Amino acid sequence: MILSGRVVTVSRTRIHCGLNSLDGLHKLLESPEYRKSRVFILVDNNTGKHCLPALVEVCPLLDSAMMFEIEEGETSKSLDVAAKIWSELLSAKADRQSLLISLGGGVVSDLGGFIAAGYKRGISYINIPTSLLGMVDASIGGKTGVNHLNLKNQLGVFYSPIAVYIDPRFLKTLPLAHIRSGFAEIVKSALVGDAVLWRRILRQGAGNILAEDTSGKPWQDMILKTVIFKNRLACQDFREQKLRKILNFGHTIGHALESLSLGSNDARLLHGDAVALGMISETWLSHLKAGLDETETPEIISFLKSAYRTQIEVLEGSIKNRTSAYDSIFDLLLHDKKNAEGKLKFTLLQAVGKPKINLEAGRDEIAAALDKIFD
Ligand SMILES: NC(=O)c1ccc[n+]([C@@H]2O[C@H](COP(=O)([O-])OP(=O)(O)OC[C@H]3O[C@@H](n4cnc5c(N)ncnc54)[C@H](O)[C@@H]3O)[C@@H](O)[C@H]2O)c1
Repeated sequence: MILSGRVVTVSRTRIHCGLNSLDGLHKLLESPEYRKSRVFILVDNNTGKHCLPALVEVCPLLDSAMMFEIEEGETSKSLDVAAKIWSELLSAKADRQSLLISLGGGVVSDLGGFIAAGYKRGISYINIPTSLLGMVDASIGGKTGVNHLNLKNQLGVFYSPIAVYIDPRFLKTLPLAHIRSGFAEIVKSALVGDAVLWRRILRQGAGNILAEDTSGKPWQDMILKTVIFKNRLACQDFREQKLRKILNFGHTIGHALESLSLGSNDARLLHGDAVALGMISETWLSHLKAGLDETETPEIISFLKSAYRTQIEVLEGSIKNRTSAYDSIFDLLLHDKKNAEGKLKFTLLQAVGKPKINLEAGRDEIAAALDKIFD
């Protein structure tokens, strides 16, 4: 990983993080390996408008690249959109040496990676994340995929980008709702792997952190710590056999809530918001099943409930009957990729910084954990 010019770790993916990190992209495109590659750029309508001009400015070579623009949002992460872009790549006679650059949030990087993995059995791709969630999570680790039949990430492959360029200056135009969504992944990362960072976040308070300018040092520091942590786990356990599963804290219930909200127009939860709500429930499950103590359990739950109060209200407003909503959530939980032999498996906390994977929980315990979101 290269942080503002410093090489810290080496993985299959070169990760450049920090202001001016995009300078490295120009060098890569001019290197003997990629000089002759045809370059394609995937954006959505927002990143095409807010981020592409800045990218072309620092890397004028990209001015002649062919661009694919998708509609922003989760519905573009689909097999239909991927197939449309594969057809366009074929029409443009893109060959196996072609290079795809995904410039956007997690939707663009998940879809772009999936397209790159499938085109002619795999072309190279680069992630340039422009959302906070993309920077700290989605662009790193090589998980690619699309949603299918209203279920999250059901089709996909592990396929690493050749490089990731994380420049926090892109965050200037990112709406606050998406800063808050990305912040949930920073909190998760702190809860599973960095008790010092968690204490700092807790001391400062979500309201103060979210009100701060994202170009400031505290944000840069949180982004960097989260990137390093995720990259280390992804390098050690690329296919999520064991260690990397610790990053799933909050995600089992979070994904079910996100899928539930995919079918609703009024109560759409952003990915990070759903993970934050999932962490409320899974903190309670941690207390029940993993021994998370009487001090940390309420601390975490009240922090998350106050930071994501509006999202809880929106979800609550969309639920007419809790029993039938919980039934739908259980159905969705059964699709979770972590399950085995029909048992629901969770990553839970024994303490902050001490996660434990593959813990089972029963229906009543899960219902009690869901109640913690609303009560
Ligand atoms: N592959 C992984 O490991 C992984 C990890 C976590 C999440 N994800 C996936 O990531 C997706 C969520 O990512 P996301 O929150 O970035 O969503 P997103 O890609 O939809 O981006 C959020 C919104 O912000 C806009 N946007 C992005 N950057 C902007 C900028 N700089 N200025 C203005 N607008 C900007 C986008 O157009 C979009 O409207 C989900 O599909 C989730 O499943 C993947």
